[in-house]
Amino acid sequence: MDLTLSNIKQDPQVELFIRETDRKLNAMSYTDHGKRHAKITSDRAMMIARKSGFSEVEVEYAGIAGYCHDMGNFLDRNQHHYWASLLFHQVFNGQTEDYEGLTAIIQAIANHDKDEARLTNNVSAALILADKSDVHRDRVKEKAKDKIENDIHDRVNYSVTRNDLDLNETTKVVTLMIQLDDKVTPIMDFFDIFLSRMKYCRKAAEYLGFKFKLVINDFELL
Ligand SMILES: [Fe+2]
Ligand SMILES: [Fe+2]
Repeated sequence: MDLTLSNIKQDPQVELFIRETDRKLNAMSYTDHGKRHAKITSDRAMMIARKSGFSEVEVEYAGIAGYCHDMGNFLDRNQHHYWASLLFHQVFNGQTEDYEGLTAIIQAIANHDKDEARLTNNVSAALILADKSDVHRDRVKEKAKDKIENDIHDRVNYSVTRNDLDLNETTKVVTLMIQLDDKVTPIMDFFDIFLSRMKYCRKAAEYLGFKFKLVINDFELL
């Protein structure tokens, strides 16, 4: 089997892991980590991969890593990046002889939630930028909306009405543009919880040869 996004999406176990992750994190009142987040992260990782000049197979690997990166959450939120990585290997080892692809994908998935990762592969960098840039109102679950003031993650996500990630191949700048409704929460709250994520995005962008720029409500902040 070739490691392509469309092949991986047809796997019934991947489908089930993502569905169970959604159920589990819903029960824990977390923001969306289900199909919506999987698809956005996958699409974005492929866009980043294409614009950074990855090979065709690496573009597919980036899409796959984006789609599967959070599917280990149904086992445990804690260390979920390792669970997802090992699950991916268990499901697809024996189905493919593309060991290089398999290795790049499981390494990227394992790297996506570490604060101190030293990046050594392209797919990891694309996944980090794609995943960490998905801060959005749509990730807040219906039942959390009534008590939004109680949870800073819900509040910050709910305050973000738009996010766009742009890679400029000429100027070599990655720009994350965020539109934040500061009537929901002050911009400082964003930094309170997302500063480490933004630093991780910068590290990933630099690995790919880009500068990272963060723009919130038209102000350039990083
Ligand atoms: Fe994650
Ligand atoms: Fe994620």
